[in-house]
Amino acid sequence: MSYNLLKGKRGIIFGALDEQSIAWNVALKAYEEGAIFTLSNTPLAIRFGNVKDLAEHCHTEIIPADATNVKELEHVFNRTMEIMGGKIDFILHSIGMSMNVRKSREYDDLDYDFYRKTIDISAMSFHKIIQVAKKLDAVNDWGSIVALSYIAAQRTLYRYNDMADAKAMLESIARSFGYIYGREKNVRINTISQSPTRTTAGSGVKGIDALIDFTERMSPLGNATAEECANFCIVLFSDLSRKVTMQNIFHDGGFSGMGMSLKAMTQYKKCLEDE
Ligand SMILES: NC(=O)c1ccc[n+]([C@@H]2O[C@H](COP(=O)([O-])OP(=O)(O)OC[C@H]3O[C@@H](n4cnc5c(N)ncnc54)[C@H](O)[C@@H]3O)[C@@H](O)[C@H]2O)c1
Repeated sequence: MSYNLLKGKRGIIFGALDEQSIAWNVALKAYEEGAIFTLSNTPLAIRFGNVKDLAEHCHTEIIPADATNVKELEHVFNRTMEIMGGKIDFILHSIGMSMNVRKSREYDDLDYDFYRKTIDISAMSFHKIIQVAKKLDAVNDWGSIVALSYIAAQRTLYRYNDMADAKAMLESIARSFGYIYGREKNVRINTISQSPTRTTAGSGVKGIDALIDFTERMSPLGNATAEECANFCIVLFSDLSRKVTMQNIFHDGGFSGMGMSLKAMTQYKKCLEDE
């Protein structure tokens, strides 16, 4: 069902790779809600993913860019404004990658080149995107910028590894830049802390199935799906959330408020009985 929440709004969505991607779901919803936008991802992701199908469905253009490269980001913004005939209203940062996670390097045995890339791709790229947007004056007053985070920014979750550090930095960037961009242009910046979700990035974390089962049992409302996350992104892009900024908002079925649930306790007791 469409509410036309984004009618007349224009944006850029970074990070749609395939149907499972959170950004893919956001693009479908944004299109449904009346927005026009461009899509951006790395040339490699565009070649190997199926983002071209998404672009076709949404009647839009894909602008390739490595989000760690400022020049390429400038091109994304300039080209988008050219296509749209003016400034934009929303940006989604849905980008994350850790070679340490992919290669199963433990946190006390990190490869530092990988670590630097994790921070650059998964956190600093958020700063770069916002800084480029601001310098080009690409965002309309009361625009909205959203990035996707995870609870490992606040609590230690086994195997999330150096991505936890990246997410802590990502959330901090939302606050630091949220103050400046809010003060000067009324642009709001928030992060959404999403439940574990089966996507290409999510599946990089070994044991994701056990984690998804655990958080499902722990959360009173159950895990939030990629589609539900997309709905929440739309609310943050819309005028209905105009005074929400510099926040990290948990979109996790209540997991972040829990310590132990009946369902998790029941399962844990079964394991103890098996010992
Ligand atoms: N899946 C989960 O469990 C989960 C939970 C909470 C938060 N998140 C976050 O959601 C976001 C989207 O991830 P997803 O789960 O949809 O997985 P995904 O793999 O579909 O998306 C990750 C995207 O990052 C892109 N990317 C990687 N390196 C890049 C670079 N240098 N420049 C530009 N783009 C680059 C990939 O091409 C891909 O499109 C990430 O920030 C992720 O950390 C995911």
